[in-house]
Amino acid sequence: MDNRPIGVFDSGLGGLTVVKELMRELPGENIVYFGDTARIPYGTRSRDIVTKYSSQSIRFLMSMDVKIAVIACNTVSAGSFEALSSAFDLPLVSVIHPGARAAVEATQNGRIGIIGTEGTIRSKAYPKAIQSLNPDILVLDQACSLFVPIVEEGWSDTEVARLTAMRYLEGLSREKVDTLVLGCTHYPLLEKTISSVMGSDVRLINPAVNTACRVGEILGNTHKLNDSKGQSAVQFYVSDFGQRFQAIGSHFLGRKIVAECIDIEAY
Ligand code: DGL
Repeated sequence: MDNRPIGVFDSGLGGLTVVKELMRELPGENIVYFGDTARIPYGTRSRDIVTKYSSQSIRFLMSMDVKIAVIACNTVSAGSFEALSSAFDLPLVSVIHPGARAAVEATQNGRIGIIGTEGTIRSKAYPKAIQSLNPDILVLDQACSLFVPIVEEGWSDTEVARLTAMRYLEGLSREKVDTLVLGCTHYPLLEKTISSVMGSDVRLINPAVNTACRVGEILGNTHKLNDSKGQSAVQFYVSDFGQRFQAIGSHFLGRKIVAECIDIEAY
C-alpha cells in the first residue's frame, strides 16, 4: 500500500478533465495537480521545448513525493513520452493508448476521427496506436488549434465555439467517422458543442476515462493503492495567475478550487 499522492500535469486547466475521472474512479486517492499556465499553449511548440517544460513539471511533482505521474496533456504524451520515461525513475502514464483502445472498442464502421493540437496531430501518435490495435481501421485527423484558447477564455458553450467547431469538423463529418477521439484535455469541455456539430450518432471518446482506469490497474497491480480510509485531498498548483484557472476549474469540477502559484523555472 502506498498513500502518497498521484501527480497529474498539463499545460493549463485541461488536465482537470483527467482529475475529474481520477476522482470518480479512485476516490480514495490524494492528487497533486500542476497546470503550466505561464507557458500554455504547448500544442504549437516544438517537441524539445515541450519535453523540457514537462521535465520541469515532473521534477516539481517528484518534489511533492508523488507515487506515479499522469501525463494528462495529449501533446506531451504524443511527442515526449519515450524521452520522459527514460529520463525519470517514476511510473508515467500516457493518455494516448487508453484513448486509442477506447476508440477501437467503440467504432462500428471502422472509421475513427482524431482531433487535437498541432503537436499531437503532427506526431501521428493516435493513428499509430489505433492501427497497432487494428490495422484495418481508417483514421482521419484534424488539428483544431483555436479550441484551446476558446476553452481557456471560458467560451466553450458559445456561438464562437460552435462556428469554429463547424469549420474544423466538416471534413470528418463528410468522411462519416462514427467515433471521434477528443485528443486534447481541453476538448471534453467542448463536448456539448462538438456533439451538436457532429450529431448524436457519433461517439465522442474522452481518453481521460480509460486513463483513470489504467492508473487504477497499475496501482492495483503494483500494490500501491491508497488504503487509508480518511478524506482524500486534491491540491492544485499553477505557474502563473490562478484566477481564471480557479474560476473555470471550479465550475468544471463542481467544487471550489484554490490554486497555489509556484516558480516552475526553479525545477
Ligand atoms: N491540453 C493540451 C493537450 O492535451 C493542449 C493545450 C496546449 O496547447 O497547451 O494536448
